[in-house]
Amino acid sequence: MRTIYFDYNATTPLDPQVRAAMLPFLDEVWGNPSSVHHVGRRARALLDDARDRSAAVLGCKGSEIVFTSGGTESSNLAIFGTARLLREKGRHLITSSVEHHAVLQCFDYLERKEGFSVTRLPVDATGRVCVDDLRRALRPDTTLVSVIAANNETGTLQPVAELGALCRERGVLFHTDAVQWFGKEPFTNIHQFNADLVSICAHKFHGPKGAGALFIRSPLHPDPVQFGGAHENERRAGTENLPAIIGFTDALERFVRVPVFERTHLAPLTARLLAAVDGIEGARFRGSREHRLANTISFTVAGTDSIALMAVLDLEGVCASSGSACAAGSLEPSHVMLAMGAPAAEANALVRLSLGRASTAAEVDTLCALLPRVLRQVRRA
Ligand SMILES: Cc1ncc(COP(=O)(O)O)c(C=O)c1O
Repeated sequence: MRTIYFDYNATTPLDPQVRAAMLPFLDEVWGNPSSVHHVGRRARALLDDARDRSAAVLGCKGSEIVFTSGGTESSNLAIFGTARLLREKGRHLITSSVEHHAVLQCFDYLERKEGFSVTRLPVDATGRVCVDDLRRALRPDTTLVSVIAANNETGTLQPVAELGALCRERGVLFHTDAVQWFGKEPFTNIHQFNADLVSICAHKFHGPKGAGALFIRSPLHPDPVQFGGAHENERRAGTENLPAIIGFTDALERFVRVPVFERTHLAPLTARLLAAVDGIEGARFRGSREHRLANTISFTVAGTDSIALMAVLDLEGVCASSGSACAAGSLEPSHVMLAMGAPAAEANALVRLSLGRASTAAEVDTLCALLPRVLRQVRRA
């Protein structure tokens, strides 16, 4: 059966060169970086080297990087760690209504269980937050704002640098979940987000799963969320996963400064998909035509649901998604679609097509040709 993999926002295949860089760390370099003997010291030296290399790409100090198990952990550490650190200063937090669950559920928990109050900023029909809404929402007791850089379901880009600048002016910490952003948008320096905390994840840009980082702007030192050791400068206890850290570092060096998701390759492909979607009755593009990742096109289909849509596309060999991977297989309406004003009946009928470096014009042609028929079929059913 043919496979058309249009789900690069869920994950990307491990790059062969990144894999090769990792292999010695699954084999001969197996020491614990915390051990004082020479086997451990060798691992420590290579861990320190990976931190320096990552810092060189990000344009920050090595001490400003905490290696984590990926995007979810990075955002959990950023949010719980800073909200709790500053709880005596204030208990008001701000996020947006279109965050990934890895962010959303941290705020829900802090509100439900720890007495914080949370403002969730609305978005417009394209999924964008308005800077003035943030300005109005900031209070004297606000300690943290967290807004996603690029939305995983729609690819909509937020004005993070402006949001971050406003927070800085008001003395409020700013975190951005940039998991979908790295490797897709032009990157010069971690400071371009004007953020104090930035979540990054390797498997979205051809690195290994279970590998990521949290940038923490010096001298901020969030409360740890896991305990049991002084690793990562007392910010993340647990023996370091050196193969994953090497894979993260190698992928960061290869695929971020010059994004591996090349706009010149992907924008024409998604433009054709968008034109096809625009021409299908009952299908409606959801997202921003102007401010979006070049690889992502999302649309809803009236009169059906995501499970039926994914199933029928899969039968044709097309791997798409109904939004966030963790919502796959569930009929929960997408909170992102609801926040963007989609009718409830369409909020669980989302198709996300996310292309990547191996995507071809022929694959796009195939999908454009079969989409009208498949959507008719699933709507009739
Ligand atoms: C925007 C966003 N944040 C966080 C995550 C979670 O990252 P990880 O799978 O590394 O935990 C994802 C993954 O889908 C994501 O798209």
